[in-house]
Order: sequence, then C-alpha cells, then structure tokens
Amino acid sequence: MTSSASARHGRVEGYNAGAMALHWAIAAAILFQLVLGFAMSRLDVMPDALRFAVFQWHKTVGISVLALTLARIAWRLFNPAPAAPPSAPAERLLAGLVHVLFYALMVLVPLSGWLLVSASPTKIPTLLMLSDSLPWPNLPLPVALAGPGGADLAETTHIWLAYSFVVLIALHVAGALKHSLIDDAPSFSRMMPVGRLPRTSTALVALPIAATAVALFLGGGVLIGRGEAGGAPADAAKLEQAGAASGWTIDPAASKLFYAVTFSGKTIAGAVGNWNAAVVFDPADLSAARADIVVETASVSIEDSFIRSNLAGPDGLDTAAFPRAEIHLNAFSKTPEGYLAKGMLRIKAVEAPIEVPFTFAEDAAGIATVSGRAAIDRLSYKLGIENDAKGEWLAPAIAIDFTLSAKRT
Ligand code: HEM
Repeated sequence: MTSSASARHGRVEGYNAGAMALHWAIAAAILFQLVLGFAMSRLDVMPDALRFAVFQWHKTVGISVLALTLARIAWRLFNPAPAAPPSAPAERLLAGLVHVLFYALMVLVPLSGWLLVSASPTKIPTLLMLSDSLPWPNLPLPVALAGPGGADLAETTHIWLAYSFVVLIALHVAGALKHSLIDDAPSFSRMMPVGRLPRTSTALVALPIAATAVALFLGGGVLIGRGEAGGAPADAAKLEQAGAASGWTIDPAASKLFYAVTFSGKTIAGAVGNWNAAVVFDPADLSAARADIVVETASVSIEDSFIRSNLAGPDGLDTAAFPRAEIHLNAFSKTPEGYLAKGMLRIKAVEAPIEVPFTFAEDAAGIATVSGRAAIDRLSYKLGIENDAKGEWLAPAIAIDFTLSAKRT
C-alpha cells in the first residue's frame, strides 16, 4: 500500500496466522480436488489402476477438507475477520456473499461426495490414504436416498456444486485483484504472511477447540469405519461330508485351494479355508471317476480390502443365503498333459458347466498329488454384478488353482 493509499484507507489489519494457515491449506486442497476430480471422471486416458487410487485420494482429501472446514469455523468463531478496508457497499455485499457461499460449498461439496459414495450401488469402501487401518464409514441414509436414485441425485449435486467453486474462486480472485491493483487497497496482503500489515490478535482458545473438532471428526469416523469393516467371518463350521463313498482321504493340511482375480490391473490372491471333497478316481477306470467338492463360502478370503468388504455380501458370495458352493465332476477323460474333468459348479443360485484340467501322480506309499486349475467367469455366477458389471475394475475371469494330497482308502 502506498502512503497516499494508507492515508485514504486508514489502518488496515491483516488476518492472523491461524486464519491464514487454514485459508491456504483449504484453498490448496480444493484446487487439488478440482483437478483430481476432473481427471478421474473425465480423462479416459487414465489407466484403471491409477484411476482407482486417484478416486481413493480424492475421497481422502475431500474428507480432510471437511475436517479443516470444521477447524476453520471453530477458528472463525473466536477470531473474527479483520474489518474490510472501505469500499463501495455493492462490492462489500458481493464479497460477503462470495465468502458465505465459500463456507456453504466447503461443507456441501465434501458432504455430497460422501453421500454419493454412501448411496452408490458399487459399495467400494473408502480407505483413507488407501490404508487398511483407516476405513471411513458410509453416511447412514434414509431409505429414500439409499439406492441408485439417491446416488444419482448426490452425484449431480456433487458435480454442480464442485464446479461452482470455479465460479466463486474466479470472483474471489478478481475482487482481490481489483482491490489491490485498481483501488490500491491491501487485499492479497491481508491473507499473506508477508508485508508489514498489523494482524488481528489471536484468540488462542480456538486452537484446542479446532484441534478437538478435527480429532473427533476424523478419529470418530475411523472408529465407526473399523466397526463396520470388522464383520467377523462366520465360524469355521464343520462341513458335512461331501459324499459318503470316497476312494481317497484328502489330507487337508497338505492340500490347497486358491484363486486369483485381477483387480485394478493387479493380480490379487484369495484362498478357500474350509472345504471338503469326496473323490473316486482310478486312472485305470475313468468311467467310474467322480469328485464332489463342497466349499464353505464364509471361509473364502481375499488379500484385498476393497474386494473383501464385498465378498460375503449379496453382490459377492452372499454367504448368509448360500453358505456352500459345490462342484460336482463326473465326466473324466485322459489328455496329453494329464486328465480333464467336466461337471457343474454351483455358486449362489447359479449352476454352470465347468472344465478342470489336472495332473495326477501317485507315489509308492499310495499318496496321490492332484494339481489343476480352472477358469470361471464371475459374471455368469452373478459375482460383483452390482459393483462392476463391465469388468472395469475387477476382471471377469477368476483363476482357480488347487493341489490335493490324498491317500487311498
Ligand atoms: C472440497 C472437496 C471436493 C471437491 C472440490 C470435489 C470435486 C470434484 C470434482 C470436480 C469432480 C468431477 C466431477 C465430474 O467432472 O464429473 C468430483 C467427482 C467425484 N467426487 Fe468429489 N470433490 C470433493 C470432495 C469429495 C468427497 C469428500 C468425496 C467422497 C467421500 C468425493 C467423491 C467424488 C466421487 C465419487 C466423484 C465421481 C463422481 C462420478 O462421476 O460418479 N468428492 N469431485
């Protein structure tokens, strides 16, 4: 401010350090969110693996904006803004309106984003900073909003309100530029830790209150999120014998049943904990061969928190309604590499044909090792249809791998 301007505008105070820190932290986060939101929603060139991580960071930074906004409001309650330098009443009114709208958007944009993911049928969980230990809960929704209708409404609201930030930022910066350059009044410097403007005094009591608000919001959210995510897997109930007549006794400790999916471009391993099999198999008499395998669906696990949270639910294995999956193989033939078994696989209410190529080797002690692999299409078994019917994140193919160790009975 020049000395003549100073004479014209009288004593002008700048914001205190707390207000400046929160203002610039939130401003940077909002700009980051606008760029990130646009890129993840509109840029088709973004690889799926990256897009998934970007979505999670968008949610993390957005929730942080909400937390910082709580701090900003707490700070503001105890630290009123310094008086505005004299300007035309219409300009003061417009500036005041822009500030109020900023506060409204700082609350409503993250809230509508949170509502959107809470109502979304995809049910992809929110893990802050992509960390397993920082699950973020969904908002409890009234029935009217909990579904695709609510998700659509929240999505439209989120997009419109988010881009309204761009309009407000443009007005806000234009106002500050006009004050600084045309009116020669301090404007940018009131919110910058530079220059020699006197600062408003600081009511330090706001510091613990703002910190408590942030800690309660983020800490409470993560605690609730952990409660939601921690649904204990069903007890490893004893499986009934898959079939009474069995030519082999399976050694569960030496046998493994695995599967793998491709999620967001990466291979994710899963395992079946509890299963049982009744096998009749003699290489010399394939016409009598058969295998009946029963899997306890609640014992199916996966090494990825995003898929895990959907695994047992209705869009996954629906373990409550379908505690077992079953494979019945009854048509065996010899192939150049080993053997081929054909039969049916039932997952949930869907029964579809399956082919399982395998090898068989029996040692002198009568212990047989059987290894094989099969591929199934999750879409035909209605797995993950609500979440990703097009296979954008989760590839349709599921690779099943098994090694059985069995002793002749
Ligand atoms: C200040 C905070 C935020 C800003 C400025 C912001 C901004 C944006 C923008 C610009 C888009 C792109 C819209 C489009 O072009 O289609 C977007 C999309 C999205 N945002 Fe945010 N966002 C914020 C907070 C949040 C939060 C807290 C969440 C969730 C917890 C969230 C979830 C989403 C989702 C899921 C989309 C994709 C919408 C879709 O196309 O389906 N956002 N956001």
